[in-house]
Amino acid sequence: MTIVWSDWILLLVRWLHIVTAIAWIGTSFYFIWLDKSLRQRQGLAPGIIGDSWSVHGGGFYQVQKYAVAPAELPPELHWFKYEAYFTWLSGFALLAIMYYWGAESFLIDPERFAFRPLPAIASSVAFLAGGWLAYDLLCRSPLGRHTVSLATGVFVLIVFSAWALTQLFSDRAAFLHVGAIIATIMSANVFFIIIPNQKKVIAALTAGQQPDAQLGQQAGQRSLHNNYLTLPVVLLMISAHHPFLFAGGTDLGWAVIALMLVMGGVIRHFFNTQHEGGHGIRLLWQWPMAVLLILAMAALLANPVKPTHSAAVSDRAALAIVQTHCSSCHATAPTAAGFNAAPAGIRLETLDDLTRHRFQVLAQAVNSRVMPLGNPTKMTTADRTRLGAWINQQSL
Ligand code: HEC
Repeated sequence: MTIVWSDWILLLVRWLHIVTAIAWIGTSFYFIWLDKSLRQRQGLAPGIIGDSWSVHGGGFYQVQKYAVAPAELPPELHWFKYEAYFTWLSGFALLAIMYYWGAESFLIDPERFAFRPLPAIASSVAFLAGGWLAYDLLCRSPLGRHTVSLATGVFVLIVFSAWALTQLFSDRAAFLHVGAIIATIMSANVFFIIIPNQKKVIAALTAGQQPDAQLGQQAGQRSLHNNYLTLPVVLLMISAHHPFLFAGGTDLGWAVIALMLVMGGVIRHFFNTQHEGGHGIRLLWQWPMAVLLILAMAALLANPVKPTHSAAVSDRAALAIVQTHCSSCHATAPTAAGFNAAPAGIRLETLDDLTRHRFQVLAQAVNSRVMPLGNPTKMTTADRTRLGAWINQQSL
């Protein structure tokens, strides 16, 4: 009996990461909704800027918001921060287990950049830290005083990182890293700005002083960014399951990511406006625009590899390609080091296997270059084109 502990660790860390991320995004969406659903009414106590009624789980809730803070702090005050911290910690652990420990398979694409594992890992860490530092500088710079120019600056920063990452890492790692940079910015906003500022406000109030209004403004600006970055970050995190998104490769990967950012932001804008009580024309443009952006993305990614190979590819030739480049891992008893079972449950040893999984093979190895992982056997574009031609020859 062998227990593959690495598989268990990966599973548990991923489970933790998804649960903490759901908790973070859940509370974040809830508070955005709450804030925007507050309404000013007659008869609210002094200092209250609005309240919101809701019904849930068998009871009614009335939540009120104070303009700055109540005259006296309540004995029990709930904070929302551990969701963010644990999402980042578990996410970084997951990144380290998959992309650092498995750098040669998941992080490095020797056709992009012939990294050794350690420099590749160091670059990954530098991107995460550098992304936050550059973002924070932008927010503190004169650009930070205007919402639109700052948003443009942050957008350019992320798209530029996307371009640089697609030149350096495997597609899958590049997309994931853009997500990780954004997620680092979001968590660091909570850790370095939002929570410390709230603590300073409380300290001032406890000392009987008027809190600096700038503290609230700064926290508000960072929360707004987190709000608009939520949907793109989730899309980037799940992108590895949809490798057709990588078809832009080194040339257009950045454009795909740019479209993702705008699309997620536009959809978020719809909900923000709706929570505020917006209606009519204010709500009409976001969904059509999101659909247009998806169509633009589909057009950008259309037919990445055209089967130019006119001669028919024989079953034997197709099987030989797969046996050379895939079967060392995708087998009942893999021969590749570190593999104990066929990854993702997919075996590619016989013609039957190949026929059964041909659409997944098309997605992973023809329309994108995700497989073979790390390309240890140097699968060429010609191999991919021939495999694609064989798949196209098969009937649906
Ligand atoms: C070095 C080992 C290795 C080689 C070689 C390899 N794969 Fe994979 N493959 C993996 C691993 C690991 C996964 C699971 C990836 C994950 O967890 O996201 C995987 C997953 C897959 C999947 C499922 C993806 C999904 O999420 O639906 C397909 C399809 C696939 N590989 C096809 C291929 C093809 C085709 C080849 C050859 C051209 C190939 N692989 C070569 C390791 C390998």
